[in-house]
Amino acid sequence: SHGRTTEILISEKFQPPLLLQTFGFEVGCIAPAPHCGINNATHSGLRLPSPTICNCCDYCMPFFGKGEYCSLGGPGTGTTVGRCGPGLTCTDDEDAHSNCQRITSKCHDAQDEYDKRYEQGTVGSLEFRRQCDGRGNFSTFDCVPTQTCFCQSENGERIFGEMLEMGAVTIRNMHCGCSRFHEKMAKNIAPGVPYPVEGPRCTSDGNFNPVQCLNRTCYCVDKITGVALRRDSINLDEKPITELSCYDEETDLFPSQSLGEAPYNYTTPCLEHVKAQIALLKQSVEDGFDVDFFSSIRGCLPDGTFGRIDVVNGTKICIDERRQRIGEYEALRHTPEYETMNCKCAQTQQTMGNSLERPVCCKNGNFREIQCRRGICRCVDPDGRQVYEENSDVTKLSCFNPNQKDWREC
Ligand SMILES: *[C@@H]1O[C@H](CO)[C@@H](O)[C@H](O)[C@H]1NC(C)=O
Ligand SMILES: *[C@@H]1O[C@H](CO)[C@@H](O)[C@H](O)[C@H]1NC(C)=O
Ligand SMILES: *[C@@H]1O[C@H](CO)[C@@H](O)[C@H](O)[C@H]1NC(C)=O
Ligand SMILES: *[C@@H]1O[C@H](CO)[C@@H](O)[C@H](O)[C@H]1NC(C)=O
Ligand SMILES: *[C@@H]1O[C@H](CO)[C@@H](O)[C@H](O)[C@H]1NC(C)=O
Repeated sequence: SHGRTTEILISEKFQPPLLLQTFGFEVGCIAPAPHCGINNATHSGLRLPSPTICNCCDYCMPFFGKGEYCSLGGPGTGTTVGRCGPGLTCTDDEDAHSNCQRITSKCHDAQDEYDKRYEQGTVGSLEFRRQCDGRGNFSTFDCVPTQTCFCQSENGERIFGEMLEMGAVTIRNMHCGCSRFHEKMAKNIAPGVPYPVEGPRCTSDGNFNPVQCLNRTCYCVDKITGVALRRDSINLDEKPITELSCYDEETDLFPSQSLGEAPYNYTTPCLEHVKAQIALLKQSVEDGFDVDFFSSIRGCLPDGTFGRIDVVNGTKICIDERRQRIGEYEALRHTPEYETMNCKCAQTQQTMGNSLERPVCCKNGNFREIQCRRGICRCVDPDGRQVYEENSDVTKLSCFNPNQKDWREC
């Protein structure tokens, strides 16, 4: 049951902390491995309850670095002393000696490619090195420096959830747990179920909405883990959601549901619409109609909204989570801009508020491929991330199209 990443290491360098016993008297603990206290690039570890009878010694399980000896034996094979550090796995080399090697993965490949270009001096100034987790998967979010950060799947695909790029503040507040929950749910159960399944409600940054409801009962959860907190709950048949301790006016997209008289609600137009469609579908099946299940009822975004693109009189426009139009962005039917419209740039602009360094968007709200900042231009991908090096001469950029009348227009 133990994967190759959790193997246990036997080494003579570090002794497990044992209670030294002399004539039956406890005289103290062996000093723990220093790694947990140092915690730098080459020396780190994990503090654990000590494997002594009383669990009373300070214990540090060291993480071993790249190339260091490790054992493929599972727990119970000898003394548990340490294991390969994050991103490493215990692998046999040509001579069948086990040592810690970097896990082969798409994220590590992306890092290696970045590092190679970094050495060659061809990394763009606004390019971020992709972050991987301890298993070599992509970490929970990716950022465009000076703009925004957005949630990503373990595969590195952008998913729901975006917030302002604010360095340490982002790292502290952006966890994307709710967003990833939806992504996994869609991947794992969608193929077997003919209609959208409602997951936990998320906030626009990809965290769990602190207010979650089951039928008519609402309660509070931790925005990072989604785990229910306290025993505080309310019944919407009696009280509005505003009376719940974790209710936050800022994140309530439809506050009018708490006005007027009971019964109150805490739902969204999209969730209600989907619920009604599912009921209709089930009724049709019960009535013996031959319903094409897979003609698909479209689900809502993880925050319960319809989406960030609306169609009005046949024209697509960009909207925010409250269904307010963003800027003048639009695309007419039967145009290529209509088909490719994603409003990602419009969303980023909206998230950045009135910052002066907002990206420039195409007329349909997508990122313009060429972005300029302080006289230097760069090419960006559809998520606004810089690709290749910047240049003060626009015509030298790889994404510059000489056949286009004006590179500023799109
Ligand atoms: C980490 O700390 C140890 C012990 O203080 C030191 O020997 C080692 O060089 C340090 N490594 C780095 C990368 O700073
Ligand atoms: C994440 O890492 C684990 C362990 O290496 C692997 O089994 C899993 O498939 C990875 N997930 C993705 C999406 O690659
Ligand atoms: C929610 O309502 C449905 C149908 O009314 C019922 O089957 C289900 O048991 C309820 N769930 C809870 C947790 O009360
Ligand atoms: C809650 O929803 C019900 C059913 O749609 C409706 O009758 C009621 O007026 C709503 N309550 C409020 C306060 O909007
Ligand atoms: C949609 O078209 C109708 C009829 O042409 C017009 O009255 C209405 O104002 C249009 N709506 C918008 C949002 O443009």
